[in-house]
Amino acid sequence: MIKIDNVKKVFNRGTVNENWAVKGVSVDIKQGSFVTVIGGNGSGKSTLLNLVAGYLKPDEGRILIDDEDVSNVTDYKRASYIGIVFQDPLSGTAKSLSIEENLAIAMKRGQKRMFGMGVKSRDREFYREQLRMLDLGLENRLKDKAGLLSGGQRQALTLLMATLVKPKILLLDEHTAALDPKTADKILKLTVKLVKENSLTAMMVTHNMKQALSLGERTVMMQLGKKVLDVDGEERKKLTVTDLLELFSRELGDEAYDAGML
Ligand SMILES: Nc1ncnc2c1ncn2[C@@H]1O[C@H](COP(=O)(O)OP(=O)(O)OP(=O)(O)O)[C@@H](O)[C@H]1O
Ligand SMILES: [Mg+2]
Repeated sequence: MIKIDNVKKVFNRGTVNENWAVKGVSVDIKQGSFVTVIGGNGSGKSTLLNLVAGYLKPDEGRILIDDEDVSNVTDYKRASYIGIVFQDPLSGTAKSLSIEENLAIAMKRGQKRMFGMGVKSRDREFYREQLRMLDLGLENRLKDKAGLLSGGQRQALTLLMATLVKPKILLLDEHTAALDPKTADKILKLTVKLVKENSLTAMMVTHNMKQALSLGERTVMMQLGKKVLDVDGEERKKLTVTDLLELFSRELGDEAYDAGML
């Protein structure tokens, strides 16, 4: 269970640039639930995800993961909790390391000490199996450096790395936005598969409203640092993209247009 409890985050406090990026947001996420997050540019989505990841500390409120406050957890322990994939396909893998070395690091996530990056043949078989699931032929390229892979292949590898050790929450921040439509679709299908097969709890930021309503079982909309919509079940089923767009324009007026949402 993830509990985001009245969290606030301010950047540049006390300066002319003071900016309350998140203004008191609460979301309880049940174990195994998949939540999509939408909202205009600068509405606080990434900040919220970074707070949940523990990369940022809330100025007020708290975030509990299985009753433990993420702010009080050591970095290596937090690393074992959190799987995170960002928009930039280059950010999740080490380009100078081979595919198998990247996976070996992911396997050791959350362990206090890492004894080298040696890959045992037993592990190699496991990695091969996992890579086969991606259906990109990477199972035959274990020794290739991650830097040789295409953006889509790297993002698939990142996704696999984020879920290899089952995280308590998988955080996806527009992780298909930088990919071509076909690759994006593939990565999205892979995401759904990994979430389902591993019964993961997930939060996915997307700008695609159709996706936001069709994937997972709950949708949260952020606007100017606040949660302005939180729907699931029948209420969500009834919602259309047009409804969301209307809500956007009602909440924001011209700002929705400026933010590229309309
Ligand atoms: N490290 C930071 N320092 C200062 N301000 C920041 C920082 N990170 C985010 N902000 C500001 O906080 C607000 C929310 O940003 P955030 O990145 O969370 O938005 P977002 O909803 O993810 O937008 P986008 O859809 O463009 O990714 C913005 O006004 C942004 O400029
Ligand atoms: Mg963002």
